[in-house]
Amino acid sequence: MDIRSALKLAMHRLREGGVPSHTLAAELLLMHVTGRERVWLYAHHEELLTPEQERDYFALIARRIAGTPTQYLTGKQEFWGLEFEVAPGVLIPRPETEHLIEVALERFHVKSGHAFPRDTSLGAASGGALRIADVGTGSGCLAVALAKEFPEASVIATDISTAALDIARRNAARHSVASRIEFHECNLLDEFLSPLDTRHSTLSFDLIVSNPPYIAHSDSADLPRDVRDHEPHSALFGGAHGAKIYAPLITQSAQLLRPGGIFVCEIGFGALDRVRPLLADASIWTAIRVTNDLAGIPRVLSAQRV
Ligand SMILES: C[S@@+](CC[C@H](N)C(=O)[O-])C[C@H]1O[C@@H](n2cnc3c(N)ncnc32)[C@H](O)[C@@H]1O
Repeated sequence: MDIRSALKLAMHRLREGGVPSHTLAAELLLMHVTGRERVWLYAHHEELLTPEQERDYFALIARRIAGTPTQYLTGKQEFWGLEFEVAPGVLIPRPETEHLIEVALERFHVKSGHAFPRDTSLGAASGGALRIADVGTGSGCLAVALAKEFPEASVIATDISTAALDIARRNAARHSVASRIEFHECNLLDEFLSPLDTRHSTLSFDLIVSNPPYIAHSDSADLPRDVRDHEPHSALFGGAHGAKIYAPLITQSAQLLRPGGIFVCEIGFGALDRVRPLLADASIWTAIRVTNDLAGIPRVLSAQRV
């Protein structure tokens, strides 16, 4: 079968199977099987697939129709212009999470691509280099993107999932920032609060970011099947109302940010009224901002430690 016929048949099957973005899925899976870019496939649409490629391609198409997300089939997802390894066991990075990076850069007056923050108050906790924490790092997408954007920063990335941390470590290595990211398997930032841990007892952060699990258990039935049946529930669900993690996360951030340090977190649809009050104490937090995503939904909450 030639490339054009294979794509056409795959798109038809995916569409009939109710798969959203069926054209993109058909293309990405064929790119994966052939190891070719999209533009190559369309420029060589008359070329024949090998029997193995054809077999593998339609096996992936069948798995996609059965519900497995395309990214788990190809093993990758782009985030902030970087390619990340993903696999079942780790959340697939979402485009709206890139707003956290934008907000962090804005807060530090850095334009994307600049070598190092120009604000002289940065890095006060560490004598120059920023200290960043990413809580619930998953694939490591935020930790890695921030390490790239702040080339002298050191990053602590935590997660409760061993599987996620394994993938995050590989993503850090893949993007040559492994030497600046420390990965820790722990609840939130617990390890850094313990008075017994003398190694980190004087640690304070300039920036804490988090995209915690924030879907309400009661909304589980409304989730797309691909998400509910394939992505890790520990990455999705944040208790009865979806807000379980925010109170301890914000309390710990208040304890661990240096004065003037920045807190940035992602919030779920409709969560603003539950989460913003947690930053209401003006003796702790100032300069509170809400940033909408491209759909106009409040998506990022950020604040400065007094
Ligand atoms: C919504 S995912 C975000 C992953 C990644 N930061 C991203 O934006 O794609 C939430 C992550 O937090 C982790 N997590 C859940 N509860 C946690 C906790 N109490 N402490 C640390 N990490 C936690 C999950 O394992 C998951 O990897």
